[in-house]
Amino acid sequence: MIQVKRLGHATFSTPDLARQIDYWTHVMGLSLVESDGKRAFFATKLGQEAIALEQGGDAEMHRLSFQIAPGRDLSEIERSLTAKGIASERRTDISPGVREAVTFLDPKGTLIEVYSEYEFQKRDKSEGGVSPLKFGHVASRVQDVQKMTEFYQEVLGFRVSDWMGDHFVFMRCGPDHHTVNFVRYETPRLHHIAFEVKDWGEIHRTCEVLAKNEVQLVWGPLRHIVGHNVAAYHRNPDDLRVECFCEMDLMKDEELGYWEPRPWHEEMPLRPKKWPKETMRSAWGFGSFGTFPGYP
Ligand SMILES: [Fe+2]
Repeated sequence: MIQVKRLGHATFSTPDLARQIDYWTHVMGLSLVESDGKRAFFATKLGQEAIALEQGGDAEMHRLSFQIAPGRDLSEIERSLTAKGIASERRTDISPGVREAVTFLDPKGTLIEVYSEYEFQKRDKSEGGVSPLKFGHVASRVQDVQKMTEFYQEVLGFRVSDWMGDHFVFMRCGPDHHTVNFVRYETPRLHHIAFEVKDWGEIHRTCEVLAKNEVQLVWGPLRHIVGHNVAAYHRNPDDLRVECFCEMDLMKDEELGYWEPRPWHEEMPLRPKKWPKETMRSAWGFGSFGTFPGYP
């Protein structure tokens, strides 16, 4: 099985590359690692790649990369995919930090890029923008949540963290409560992508940075119930929803099997569970009740 360790970067097409470069660098505070006028790669200031852009077409996410354990043989990954009847292809230089990857489609048609070796980008010591710690998770609307869950469990090695009813699943590949989530919808599309910031003070600063750049929040700040992250959501110039979050539940030890205890947990110890489908989306915060412009 492919045991994914962490989320790498997501690749988007965009109708306006220059506008997106301005947003990801000046507003979100990522580092522009490489750009040739048709493509652009961004990393966090700490050196992990997060976003790749390609000029042309609608604003869509086409590819998603994940790192497996360094040293793992990619041929072994190819053989395990073949054994599962999944066609794969070896690709080189998918990003400045990734020389070689095995690629294949997930059931919703996103090209998954799996690699074992990653070369950190140079640390960017400049100040400015949100400057997140890391690219944290990707949420997708899909028609068949069960099918996606099985694929991410059986092919990529994800674990189920929580279900909300039978329509919304949160999955982890490391200590974080969720790195991917899938929610049932008639029209499949990306729901949002999320970046981790250090703490609540950084969420506050994020809101100020967004306001200064005339980017409106569409939801939050709030504390979610499932996952318990504090989160604030906005839309970027390509209308993509972007979440900035902190204080997400952590499964520090899989054998203990519970989330690190936190005062905001509803029960002790809190373990992965199936929450009722009518569970509120948040414990507190703007937009905890009712609907709000641009969301969900
Ligand atoms: Fe999220």
